[in-house]
Amino acid sequence: MSTSASHDRLLVIDFGSQVTQLIARRLRELRVYCEIHPYQKVTDAFLAAFAPKAVVLSGGPASVLDRGAPMPPPSLFALGVPVLGICYGQQVMMHLLGGTVERGDGTAEFGRAYVTPADGPLDLLEGWFEDGREQVWMSHGDHVARLAPGFGVYATSPNAPFAVVADPARRFYGVQFHPEVHHTPRGARLYENFVRLAGFTGDWTMGAFRDEAIAKIRAQVGPEGRVICGLSGGVDSSVAAVLIHEAIGDRLTCVFVDHGLMRQGEAAEVVGMFREHYNIPLIHAEEGPRFVAALRGVTDPEEKRKTIGRLFVEVFEAHARAAGGAQFLAQGTLYPDVIESVSASGGPSVTIKSHHNVGGLPEKMGLKLVEPLRELFKDEVRALGRALGLPASFVGRHPFPGPGLAIRIPGEVTAERLELLRRADAVFIDQIRRHGLYDAIWQAFVVLLPVRSVGVMGDGRSYDHVCALRAVTSVDGMTADVYPFSHDFLSETATRIINEVRGINRVTWDITSKPPGTIEWE
Ligand code: XMP
Repeated sequence: MSTSASHDRLLVIDFGSQVTQLIARRLRELRVYCEIHPYQKVTDAFLAAFAPKAVVLSGGPASVLDRGAPMPPPSLFALGVPVLGICYGQQVMMHLLGGTVERGDGTAEFGRAYVTPADGPLDLLEGWFEDGREQVWMSHGDHVARLAPGFGVYATSPNAPFAVVADPARRFYGVQFHPEVHHTPRGARLYENFVRLAGFTGDWTMGAFRDEAIAKIRAQVGPEGRVICGLSGGVDSSVAAVLIHEAIGDRLTCVFVDHGLMRQGEAAEVVGMFREHYNIPLIHAEEGPRFVAALRGVTDPEEKRKTIGRLFVEVFEAHARAAGGAQFLAQGTLYPDVIESVSASGGPSVTIKSHHNVGGLPEKMGLKLVEPLRELFKDEVRALGRALGLPASFVGRHPFPGPGLAIRIPGEVTAERLELLRRADAVFIDQIRRHGLYDAIWQAFVVLLPVRSVGVMGDGRSYDHVCALRAVTSVDGMTADVYPFSHDFLSETATRIINEVRGINRVTWDITSKPPGTIEWE
């Protein structure tokens, strides 16, 4: 459990909804400190120790009518704190508090719906219904059939007569729809009302987080402890490093393993920022040729990841040992990585890609982990980076995968292909910046395809490489939409790449969302 005990805390009990993380996002936007925990873990003792100021029950795929359906401990409703049940969470409330839920045979409702007011005004719905009705996003099979004692109905829809139910005296609220998704446009207002009526003051700010995090790092590392940190060039490890440096100064050593698979100018930018702005002890391990040699003949994406991961650990370990005597390893682990999610299928999820990190190092080297960003989402890390004074251009950079450009070159990775890709990628990113699109895009990059095509340039024939442009919008990288470039932008970019990058004579545009595609091609 987190140690952010000085903040008012909200507990989200997860019953396996696909969108539980979005609940936490909406709450964090309101500067409310919350944690998501799977229902199996939330026992009476857990509740007593966590001492939430309010509780949200997530949606989920189960039916309360099933044997062994997921339930919170009944003591939850004796805590005297506000509870908001969403979809399955609403049904759980009705079921446990004396109402009834029925199977939704034939009456399942998915997608957009409109709710209108019922019994009267409700604090939870303040600011709603100014236009008479509100759009909400429904996704449910079962439905409430009879209210629990003390509850009234405050909004209905044609297919959901109990769209919003509440017992305002006890501050128990249940909604049949998902207020956390964008398709419920005034959902954020509902959460705002909920946290206000629960008495939250919005004290979860980056300034407060930063001071607490520094105190925690000092307490964990002690007055003599030394930390090493692997810098990847990404925002997460950079922010972790700067934060730890503020806490323990020169007892932090960073190792930047330059695997030669970085974007144009990236290694220099990272090293420059750390050397010039922060004066953090930094080992710049220039190991490009070694990685490229190890990748010779490797074409399978997972084999590439494993090769890079193995070598990365070797190189990192050698330099870290040379730096001498660290007891701690810092990592930029984020909250989405540590949430113990409830799998809808009940089983382990399929591995699509084995993401590379410094896995294996802590045990192998006998190191303890320092993970100061474990409680944060990506955009919060960016806000923290700004609070720590990292340059805006650095903080706002698009995410970049650990194995770097190697997974943007389907087929074999060679020094020549890397150079071609780097140059095409730089043109694409320059175009995006010139057109003011950079911040509207989650990730944009070029993929160098393993095909050649015939072209005509001037009076001559060319037989050169083909590349694909990829740009997506996303909230967390789990799903993604294609960024809708204009035709003018695309043709200008294609022309520039072909004119400026000798060796590429054809440019294509990848218009696949995720799913069914993934963001990277490998
Ligand atoms: P995919 O391609 O799985 O990518 O849709 C989702 C996000 O993860 C990044 N990514 C990786 N990051 N090591 C990483 O550190 C990897 O092996 C890796 N593969 C994908 C990808 O860039 C996107 O942000």
